[in-house]
Amino acid sequence: MERTFVAIKPDGVQRGLIGTILGRFEQRGFRVVALKMLTASRELAEKHYAVHRGKFFYEDLVNYICSGPVVAMVLEGVEAIKTVRLMIGATRPYEAAPGTIRGDYALTGLRNLVHASDSPETAQEEIALWFTPEEIQSYQRDLDRWIYEE
Ligand code: CMP
Repeated sequence: MERTFVAIKPDGVQRGLIGTILGRFEQRGFRVVALKMLTASRELAEKHYAVHRGKFFYEDLVNYICSGPVVAMVLEGVEAIKTVRLMIGATRPYEAAPGTIRGDYALTGLRNLVHASDSPETAQEEIALWFTPEEIQSYQRDLDRWIYEE
């Protein structure tokens, strides 16, 4: 099993898409093992987007992620990192395929609704940045045997 970090960004919250986005991940079969709503501090946002520091869009990106509440979560499942990235679609909403979250609900630029870790290393870092170990649950569901083969 793999864990990945996902955040529904302020535009997703403001547009009333929390349930829709979370529901897609649940319906796909992922286990939600951590979940909380918070408004990111500038310090947290700068750490989260440290890799983009110095790029022309960095300031806008940090301001945007801090602009309102986000819903942060950890999802667990086989190949969670790759699968969730495929589900959210291309970074630029106009390039995101229909059927992806961005391709179905977003149109432009930075307003791309959702963030998801892009590699195992990033997932580990982002989970540790946004959650304490106590906030992450380990559990089985009865239905997991209907999602995963033996
Ligand atoms: P996200 O998945 O949160 O990770 C980094 C974010 O930077 C990305 O979504 C976009 O919102 C933003 N981003 C990446 N590339 C660009 C770009 N060329 N111009 C503007 N924003 C970008």
